[in-house]
Amino acid sequence: MDKSALFKLGYGVYIVSSLQDKKYNAQIATCINKDNLTHEYIEKSGVFGVSILEQDTPMTFIGKFGFKSGRDINKFEDTVYEIGVTGAPLITESSSAILEAKVVSKMDTGTHTMFIGEVQNCNNLSDKPALTYDYYHNVKKMKSPKTAPTYNA
Ligand SMILES: Cc1cc2nc3c(=O)[nH]c(=O)nc-3n(C[C@H](O)[C@H](O)[C@H](O)COP(=O)(O)O)c2cc1C
Repeated sequence: MDKSALFKLGYGVYIVSSLQDKKYNAQIATCINKDNLTHEYIEKSGVFGVSILEQDTPMTFIGKFGFKSGRDINKFEDTVYEIGVTGAPLITESSSAILEAKVVSKMDTGTHTMFIGEVQNCNNLSDKPALTYDYYHNVKKMKSPKTAPTYNA
């Protein structure tokens, strides 16, 4: 099986954010790995934010949200964000749009949980093109970490 075939599915690269007891966290994701801190926050708060990343998002920014855990660093310390109507932190930096949702259902896929959200609010921030997985892999030549469902050893 050549898993690189799956990279041809069109998909965006997003930041998913959530909170617990006024502490904020976020990670790059489509569905959420059960070991990640963001998973714990979404389970407990029942809300999450999504930031649609711009194509020219700096790799250092992706490094912070996609390769580091909120268990080790405070990712919000030097990040531009606002608090949404759900209370979820919404990252506005390098993002062309933001949305926030409350969890109405979820699906256990083994390693990951797919949270189904009902959108409570959303806004446009710029008209810049969105960062897609195709651009991420083939133009930026970046890899996915082991916790990402798109990881290919
Ligand atoms: C391009 C890219 C895609 C990713 N996709 C996912 C994903 O879909 N699900 C996931 O759980 N982690 C994904 N990750 C990895 C998480 O962002 C990473 O494990 C992060 O450090 C988790 O942070 P946390 O522990 O603070 O929640 C992805 C990372 C990158 C760079």
